[in-house]
Amino acid sequence: MRTRNLLVLVLVGAMLALSACGGGGSKTLKVAILAPLSGNVATFGQSTRDGATLAIEEWNAKGGVLGKQIQPVVEDSQCNAEAAVSAANKVIDQDGVKFIIGEVCSSASIPISEVAMAKGVLQISPTSTNPSVTVGEDGKTKSLIFRACFIDPFQGQVAAKFALEDLKAKTAAVLLDQGNDYVRGLAEFFRDSFEAGGGKVVVWETYTGEDNDFSAILSKVKDANPDILYVPDYYSKVNLIAAQAREKGITATMMGGDGWDSEDLDRTVTDGAYFTNHYSGDDPRPIVQDWIKKYKDKYGSEPDALATLAYDAANILFTAMEKAGTDDPAKVAAAMEGMEFDVVSGHITYDSKHNPVKPAVILQIKDGEIHFVKTIAP
Ligand code: PHE
Repeated sequence: MRTRNLLVLVLVGAMLALSACGGGGSKTLKVAILAPLSGNVATFGQSTRDGATLAIEEWNAKGGVLGKQIQPVVEDSQCNAEAAVSAANKVIDQDGVKFIIGEVCSSASIPISEVAMAKGVLQISPTSTNPSVTVGEDGKTKSLIFRACFIDPFQGQVAAKFALEDLKAKTAAVLLDQGNDYVRGLAEFFRDSFEAGGGKVVVWETYTGEDNDFSAILSKVKDANPDILYVPDYYSKVNLIAAQAREKGITATMMGGDGWDSEDLDRTVTDGAYFTNHYSGDDPRPIVQDWIKKYKDKYGSEPDALATLAYDAANILFTAMEKAGTDDPAKVAAAMEGMEFDVVSGHITYDSKHNPVKPAVILQIKDGEIHFVKTIAP
Protein backbone atom coordinates (compact mmCIF):
# COMPACT_ATOMS: atom_id res chain seq x y z
CA MET A 1 0.00 0.00 0.00
CA ARG A 2 2.74 2.39 1.03
CA THR A 3 4.78 1.74 -2.13
CA ARG A 4 1.69 2.20 -4.27
CA ASN A 5 0.98 5.56 -2.72
CA LEU A 6 4.56 6.55 -3.26
CA LEU A 7 4.37 5.46 -6.88
CA VAL A 8 1.22 7.56 -7.41
CA LEU A 9 2.93 10.53 -5.82
CA VAL A 10 5.98 10.16 -8.02
CA LEU A 11 3.80 9.82 -11.12
CA VAL A 12 1.70 12.87 -10.29
CA GLY A 13 4.87 14.81 -9.58
CA ALA A 14 6.35 13.83 -12.92
CA MET A 15 3.18 14.82 -14.75
CA LEU A 16 3.10 18.21 -13.08
CA ALA A 17 6.74 18.79 -13.92
CA LEU A 18 6.11 17.76 -17.53
CA SER A 19 3.12 20.02 -17.98
CA ALA A 20 5.09 22.88 -16.41
CA CYS A 21 7.88 22.66 -18.95
CA GLY A 22 6.00 21.15 -21.89
CA GLY A 23 5.44 23.07 -25.14
CA GLY A 24 8.09 25.78 -25.12
CA GLY A 25 8.74 25.99 -21.45
CA SER A 26 5.87 27.80 -19.77
CA LYS A 27 2.56 26.56 -18.55
CA THR A 28 0.63 29.70 -19.36
CA LEU A 29 0.01 31.45 -22.61
CA LYS A 30 -0.03 35.23 -22.35
CA VAL A 31 -2.42 37.13 -24.60
CA ALA A 32 -2.65 40.92 -24.57
CA ILE A 33 -5.91 42.83 -24.56
CA LEU A 34 -5.27 46.42 -25.67
CA ALA A 35 -8.27 48.72 -25.32
CA PRO A 36 -9.25 52.24 -24.20
CA LEU A 37 -10.13 51.77 -20.52
CA SER A 38 -10.09 55.45 -19.61
CA GLY A 39 -10.92 58.76 -21.26
CA ASN A 40 -13.58 59.74 -23.76
CA VAL A 41 -14.50 56.28 -24.99
CA ALA A 42 -13.92 54.22 -21.85
CA THR A 43 -17.07 52.13 -22.35
CA PHE A 44 -15.46 50.75 -25.54
CA GLY A 45 -12.50 49.42 -23.58
CA GLN A 46 -14.48 48.05 -20.67
CA SER A 47 -16.82 46.10 -22.94
CA THR A 48 -13.91 44.80 -24.99
CA ARG A 49 -12.03 43.62 -21.91
CA ASP A 50 -15.17 41.99 -20.49
CA GLY A 51 -16.04 40.18 -23.72
CA ALA A 52 -12.50 38.84 -24.24
CA THR A 53 -12.21 37.85 -20.58
CA LEU A 54 -15.34 35.73 -20.81
CA ALA A 55 -13.92 33.84 -23.78
CA ILE A 56 -10.62 33.29 -21.96
CA GLU A 57 -12.39 31.96 -18.88
CA GLU A 58 -14.38 29.53 -21.01
CA TRP A 59 -11.26 28.23 -22.77
CA ASN A 60 -9.39 27.92 -19.48
CA ALA A 61 -12.27 25.97 -17.96
CA LYS A 62 -12.03 23.54 -20.90
CA GLY A 63 -8.28 23.09 -20.33
CA GLY A 64 -6.87 26.19 -22.04
CA VAL A 65 -5.28 26.47 -25.48
CA LEU A 66 -2.54 24.07 -26.61
CA GLY A 67 -2.78 22.61 -23.13
CA LYS A 68 -1.89 25.92 -21.48
CA GLN A 69 -3.97 28.25 -19.37
CA ILE A 70 -4.47 31.62 -21.06
CA GLN A 71 -3.26 34.57 -19.03
CA PRO A 72 -4.64 37.94 -20.17
CA VAL A 73 -2.35 40.98 -20.06
CA VAL A 74 -4.64 44.02 -20.13
CA GLU A 75 -3.36 47.50 -21.03
CA ASP A 76 -5.13 50.83 -21.40
CA SER A 77 -4.17 51.93 -24.91
CA GLN A 78 -6.52 54.95 -24.74
CA CYS A 79 -7.82 54.94 -28.31
CA ASN A 80 -4.83 56.99 -29.44
CA ALA A 81 -1.73 56.27 -31.46
CA GLU A 82 0.93 57.20 -28.94
CA ALA A 83 -0.50 55.31 -25.97
CA ALA A 84 -1.28 52.35 -28.24
CA VAL A 85 2.30 52.09 -29.51
CA SER A 86 3.76 52.17 -26.01
CA ALA A 87 1.21 49.62 -24.76
CA ALA A 88 2.06 47.33 -27.68
CA ASN A 89 5.80 47.64 -27.07
CA LYS A 90 5.32 47.03 -23.37
CA VAL A 91 3.28 43.82 -23.73
CA ILE A 92 5.64 42.46 -26.38
CA ASP A 93 9.00 43.44 -24.87
CA GLN A 94 8.25 43.13 -21.17
CA ASP A 95 5.48 40.54 -20.96
CA GLY A 96 6.61 38.54 -23.97
CA VAL A 97 3.20 38.22 -25.62
CA LYS A 98 2.95 36.92 -29.17
CA PHE A 99 -0.76 37.62 -29.58
CA ILE A 100 -2.70 40.87 -29.26
CA ILE A 101 -6.46 41.30 -29.15
CA GLY A 102 -7.16 44.99 -29.89
CA GLU A 103 -7.43 47.88 -30.26
CA VAL A 104 -10.97 49.17 -30.65
CA CYS A 105 -10.22 52.45 -32.42
CA SER A 106 -8.71 52.37 -35.89
CA SER A 107 -6.35 55.25 -35.08
CA ALA A 108 -4.83 53.05 -32.37
CA SER A 109 -5.02 49.71 -34.20
CA ILE A 110 -3.16 51.00 -37.27
CA PRO A 111 0.03 51.95 -35.35
CA ILE A 112 -0.21 48.77 -33.24
CA SER A 113 -0.24 46.77 -36.49
CA GLU A 114 3.09 48.35 -37.49
CA VAL A 115 4.66 47.33 -34.18
CA ALA A 116 3.15 43.84 -34.36
CA MET A 117 4.41 43.26 -37.91
CA ALA A 118 7.91 44.49 -37.03
CA LYS A 119 8.08 42.20 -34.00
CA GLY A 120 6.42 39.10 -35.44
CA VAL A 121 3.30 39.30 -33.28
CA LEU A 122 -0.20 38.35 -34.41
CA GLN A 123 -2.87 41.05 -33.90
CA ILE A 124 -6.61 40.62 -34.19
CA SER A 125 -8.70 43.76 -33.75
CA PRO A 126 -12.26 43.01 -32.70
CA THR A 127 -13.76 46.26 -33.94
CA SER A 128 -11.40 48.50 -35.91
CA THR A 129 -13.15 49.03 -39.22
CA ASN A 130 -10.74 51.23 -41.20
CA PRO A 131 -9.23 49.35 -44.21
CA SER A 132 -5.65 50.41 -43.30
CA VAL A 133 -5.60 48.21 -40.20
CA THR A 134 -4.91 45.08 -42.26
CA VAL A 135 -3.52 46.59 -45.48
CA GLY A 136 -0.32 48.63 -45.76
CA GLU A 137 0.24 51.78 -47.81
CA ASP A 138 1.77 49.55 -50.48
CA GLY A 139 -1.62 47.84 -50.86
CA LYS A 140 -0.30 44.57 -49.45
CA THR A 141 -2.09 42.59 -46.76
CA LYS A 142 -0.21 42.65 -43.44
CA SER A 143 0.42 38.93 -42.94
CA LEU A 144 -0.06 38.85 -39.14
CA ILE A 145 -2.96 41.32 -38.81
CA PHE A 146 -6.65 40.34 -38.75
CA ARG A 147 -9.97 41.70 -37.53
CA ALA A 148 -13.33 40.28 -36.45
CA CYS A 149 -15.51 43.04 -37.97
CA PHE A 150 -16.55 44.26 -41.42
CA ILE A 151 -14.80 47.33 -42.86
CA ASP A 152 -15.93 50.92 -43.42
CA PRO A 153 -16.34 50.93 -47.21
CA PHE A 154 -19.13 48.43 -46.53
CA GLN A 155 -20.44 50.23 -43.44
CA GLY A 156 -20.61 53.56 -45.32
CA GLN A 157 -22.37 51.89 -48.22
CA VAL A 158 -24.93 50.29 -45.92
CA ALA A 159 -25.72 53.66 -44.32
CA ALA A 160 -26.01 55.39 -47.72
CA LYS A 161 -28.25 52.66 -49.11
CA PHE A 162 -30.54 52.84 -46.08
CA ALA A 163 -30.72 56.65 -46.30
CA LEU A 164 -31.52 56.59 -50.02
CA GLU A 165 -33.84 53.60 -50.21
CA ASP A 166 -35.56 53.38 -46.84
CA LEU A 167 -35.55 57.02 -45.73
CA LYS A 168 -35.91 58.32 -49.32
CA ALA A 169 -33.26 60.91 -48.59
CA LYS A 170 -31.98 63.16 -51.37
CA THR A 171 -29.55 65.39 -49.47
CA ALA A 172 -27.13 64.94 -46.60
CA ALA A 173 -24.81 66.99 -44.41
CA VAL A 174 -21.66 65.24 -43.20
CA LEU A 175 -19.65 66.42 -40.17
CA LEU A 176 -16.28 64.82 -39.47
CA ASP A 177 -13.18 64.87 -37.31
CA GLN A 178 -10.52 64.99 -39.96
CA GLY A 179 -7.77 63.78 -37.62
CA ASN A 180 -9.50 60.50 -36.81
CA ASP A 181 -8.84 57.71 -39.34
CA TYR A 182 -12.10 55.95 -38.59
CA VAL A 183 -14.30 59.05 -38.72
CA ARG A 184 -12.71 60.49 -41.84
CA GLY A 185 -12.79 57.16 -43.65
CA LEU A 186 -16.39 56.39 -42.83
CA ALA A 187 -17.49 59.93 -43.77
CA GLU A 188 -15.79 59.57 -47.17
CA PHE A 189 -17.17 56.11 -47.84
CA PHE A 190 -20.69 57.30 -46.95
CA ARG A 191 -20.35 60.34 -49.21
CA ASP A 192 -19.09 58.28 -52.15
CA SER A 193 -21.90 55.73 -51.88
CA PHE A 194 -24.60 58.34 -51.22
CA GLU A 195 -23.59 60.35 -54.30
CA ALA A 196 -23.12 57.23 -56.44
CA GLY A 197 -26.71 56.32 -55.55
CA GLY A 198 -28.03 59.71 -56.71
CA GLY A 199 -27.94 61.66 -53.41
CA LYS A 200 -26.17 64.96 -52.88
CA VAL A 201 -23.90 65.92 -49.98
CA VAL A 202 -24.78 69.58 -49.47
CA VAL A 203 -22.62 70.25 -46.40
CA TRP A 204 -19.16 68.74 -45.72
CA GLU A 205 -17.60 70.27 -42.62
CA THR A 206 -14.63 69.20 -40.53
CA TYR A 207 -13.75 69.73 -36.87
CA THR A 208 -10.97 68.52 -34.58
CA GLY A 209 -10.93 66.08 -31.67
CA GLU A 210 -10.55 69.00 -29.24
CA ASP A 211 -13.59 70.97 -30.49
CA ASN A 212 -16.70 71.03 -28.38
CA ASP A 213 -18.54 74.01 -29.81
CA PHE A 214 -20.07 73.12 -33.15
CA SER A 215 -22.37 76.13 -33.59
CA ALA A 216 -20.59 77.55 -36.65
CA ILE A 217 -20.75 74.35 -38.68
CA LEU A 218 -24.24 73.52 -37.42
CA SER A 219 -25.43 76.92 -38.69
CA LYS A 220 -24.39 75.79 -42.16
CA VAL A 221 -26.39 72.59 -41.69
CA LYS A 222 -29.41 74.56 -40.54
CA ASP A 223 -29.24 76.83 -43.61
CA ALA A 224 -28.87 73.90 -46.02
CA ASN A 225 -31.75 71.98 -44.40
CA PRO A 226 -30.64 68.49 -45.53
CA ASP A 227 -32.64 65.28 -45.16
CA ILE A 228 -29.82 63.51 -43.29
CA LEU A 229 -27.20 64.70 -40.80
CA TYR A 230 -24.43 62.05 -40.88
CA VAL A 231 -22.05 62.13 -37.90
CA PRO A 232 -19.82 59.04 -37.96
CA ASP A 233 -17.92 59.83 -34.74
CA TYR A 234 -17.73 58.14 -31.31
CA TYR A 235 -20.59 58.52 -28.83
CA SER A 236 -19.03 61.24 -26.67
CA LYS A 237 -18.71 63.63 -29.64
CA VAL A 238 -22.07 62.55 -31.02
CA ASN A 239 -23.74 63.49 -27.71
CA LEU A 240 -22.38 67.04 -27.98
CA ILE A 241 -23.17 67.49 -31.67
CA ALA A 242 -26.68 66.05 -31.37
CA ALA A 243 -27.51 68.27 -28.38
CA GLN A 244 -26.29 71.38 -30.19
CA ALA A 245 -28.10 70.39 -33.40
CA ARG A 246 -31.35 70.16 -31.43
CA GLU A 247 -30.76 73.56 -29.83
CA LYS A 248 -30.37 75.01 -33.31
CA GLY A 249 -33.68 73.49 -34.38
CA ILE A 250 -32.14 71.17 -37.00
CA THR A 251 -34.72 68.60 -38.06
CA ALA A 252 -32.61 66.40 -40.36
CA THR A 253 -32.63 62.69 -39.47
CA MET A 254 -29.35 61.96 -37.75
CA MET A 255 -27.33 58.91 -38.75
CA GLY A 256 -24.02 57.45 -37.62
CA GLY A 257 -21.89 54.31 -37.40
CA ASP A 258 -20.70 51.70 -34.94
CA GLY A 259 -18.95 54.39 -32.88
CA TRP A 260 -22.39 55.27 -31.48
CA ASP A 261 -22.59 51.95 -29.70
CA SER A 262 -22.32 52.80 -26.01
CA GLU A 263 -24.48 52.74 -22.94
CA ASP A 264 -23.36 56.37 -22.59
CA LEU A 265 -24.87 57.47 -25.91
CA ASP A 266 -27.41 60.19 -25.02
CA ARG A 267 -30.66 58.60 -26.17
CA THR A 268 -32.66 61.80 -25.62
CA VAL A 269 -30.77 64.07 -27.98
CA THR A 270 -30.38 61.26 -30.53
CA ASP A 271 -34.03 60.16 -30.38
CA GLY A 272 -35.19 59.00 -33.82
CA ALA A 273 -31.64 58.64 -35.19
CA TYR A 274 -30.26 55.53 -36.93
CA PHE A 275 -26.83 53.91 -36.83
CA THR A 276 -25.11 50.98 -38.46
CA ASN A 277 -23.65 48.30 -36.21
CA HIS A 278 -22.17 44.79 -36.08
CA TYR A 279 -24.70 42.94 -34.07
CA SER A 280 -28.16 43.16 -32.54
CA GLY A 281 -29.32 41.46 -29.35
CA ASP A 282 -32.67 40.94 -31.10
CA ASP A 283 -31.07 38.37 -33.39
CA PRO A 284 -32.90 35.09 -32.59
CA ARG A 285 -30.00 32.72 -33.50
CA PRO A 286 -29.35 30.46 -30.49
CA ILE A 287 -25.63 31.34 -30.40
CA VAL A 288 -26.61 35.01 -29.91
CA GLN A 289 -29.21 34.34 -27.24
CA ASP A 290 -26.83 31.99 -25.33
CA TRP A 291 -24.15 34.63 -25.43
CA ILE A 292 -26.46 37.33 -24.08
CA LYS A 293 -27.46 35.07 -21.22
CA LYS A 294 -23.87 34.17 -20.33
CA TYR A 295 -22.80 37.79 -20.43
CA LYS A 296 -25.76 38.97 -18.36
CA ASP A 297 -25.16 36.27 -15.75
CA LYS A 298 -21.58 37.39 -15.36
CA TYR A 299 -21.77 41.16 -15.75
CA GLY A 300 -25.41 42.03 -15.11
CA SER A 301 -25.93 43.92 -18.37
CA GLU A 302 -26.53 43.18 -22.05
CA PRO A 303 -23.40 42.89 -24.19
CA ASP A 304 -22.87 45.64 -26.76
CA ALA A 305 -21.18 45.06 -30.12
CA LEU A 306 -17.76 45.73 -28.59
CA ALA A 307 -18.11 42.99 -25.99
CA THR A 308 -19.53 40.63 -28.59
CA LEU A 309 -16.77 41.19 -31.13
CA ALA A 310 -14.06 40.92 -28.47
CA TYR A 311 -15.54 37.56 -27.47
CA ASP A 312 -15.59 36.56 -31.14
CA ALA A 313 -12.03 37.78 -31.77
CA ALA A 314 -10.71 35.78 -28.81
CA ASN A 315 -12.55 32.66 -29.97
CA ILE A 316 -11.26 33.06 -33.53
CA LEU A 317 -7.70 33.39 -32.24
CA PHE A 318 -7.82 30.41 -29.88
CA THR A 319 -9.58 28.19 -32.43
CA ALA A 320 -6.90 29.03 -35.00
CA MET A 321 -4.13 28.30 -32.48
CA GLU A 322 -5.62 24.88 -31.76
CA LYS A 323 -5.88 24.19 -35.47
CA ALA A 324 -2.30 25.32 -36.10
CA GLY A 325 -1.16 23.23 -33.14
CA THR A 326 1.48 25.78 -32.22
CA ASP A 327 1.86 29.27 -30.78
CA ASP A 328 4.07 30.39 -33.66
CA PRO A 329 2.23 33.56 -34.83
CA ALA A 330 3.05 33.07 -38.52
CA LYS A 331 1.66 29.53 -38.49
CA VAL A 332 -1.45 30.61 -36.57
CA ALA A 333 -1.99 33.40 -39.12
CA ALA A 334 -1.68 30.91 -41.98
CA ALA A 335 -4.25 28.65 -40.33
CA MET A 336 -6.63 31.52 -39.67
CA GLU A 337 -6.60 32.60 -43.32
CA GLY A 338 -8.17 29.40 -44.51
CA MET A 339 -10.64 28.70 -41.72
CA GLU A 340 -14.37 29.32 -41.30
CA PHE A 341 -15.72 30.45 -37.96
CA ASP A 342 -19.23 30.40 -36.58
CA VAL A 343 -19.16 33.13 -33.99
CA VAL A 344 -21.79 35.28 -32.29
CA SER A 345 -21.62 38.10 -34.84
CA GLY A 346 -22.07 35.66 -37.72
CA HIS A 347 -20.32 33.22 -40.01
CA ILE A 348 -16.81 34.39 -40.86
CA THR A 349 -14.42 33.62 -43.67
CA TYR A 350 -11.47 35.87 -44.44
CA ASP A 351 -11.00 37.63 -47.76
CA SER A 352 -7.50 38.19 -49.17
CA LYS A 353 -7.15 41.34 -47.05
CA HIS A 354 -7.92 39.54 -43.76
CA ASN A 355 -11.36 41.15 -43.56
CA PRO A 356 -14.42 39.10 -42.62
CA VAL A 357 -17.25 39.14 -45.10
CA LYS A 358 -20.41 39.55 -43.02
CA PRO A 359 -23.63 41.60 -42.78
CA ALA A 360 -24.33 44.84 -40.89
CA VAL A 361 -27.41 45.82 -38.92
CA ILE A 362 -29.31 49.10 -38.81
CA LEU A 363 -30.47 50.18 -35.35
CA GLN A 364 -32.74 53.05 -34.34
CA ILE A 365 -32.85 54.99 -31.08
CA LYS A 366 -36.50 55.44 -30.12
CA ASP A 367 -38.02 56.49 -26.78
CA GLY A 368 -34.86 55.68 -24.88
CA GLU A 369 -34.38 52.26 -26.42
CA ILE A 370 -32.33 50.79 -29.24
CA HIS A 371 -34.45 48.97 -31.81
CA PHE A 372 -33.31 46.56 -34.49
CA VAL A 373 -34.47 47.81 -37.91
CA LYS A 374 -32.92 45.48 -40.48
CA THR A 375 -29.90 43.48 -41.58
CA ILE A 376 -28.04 44.41 -44.75
CA ALA A 377 -25.79 41.74 -46.30
CA PRO A 378 -22.72 42.47 -48.45
N1 PHE B 1 -15.10 50.94 -35.72
C1 PHE B 1 -14.51 51.89 -34.79
C2 PHE B 1 -13.11 52.26 -35.26
O1 PHE B 1 -12.60 51.66 -36.15
C3 PHE B 1 -14.50 51.38 -33.39
C4 PHE B 1 -15.81 50.94 -32.80
C5 PHE B 1 -16.39 49.74 -33.17
C6 PHE B 1 -16.49 51.70 -31.90
C7 PHE B 1 -17.62 49.32 -32.64
C8 PHE B 1 -17.70 51.28 -31.38
C9 PHE B 1 -18.27 50.10 -31.76
O2 PHE B 1 -12.46 53.14 -34.76
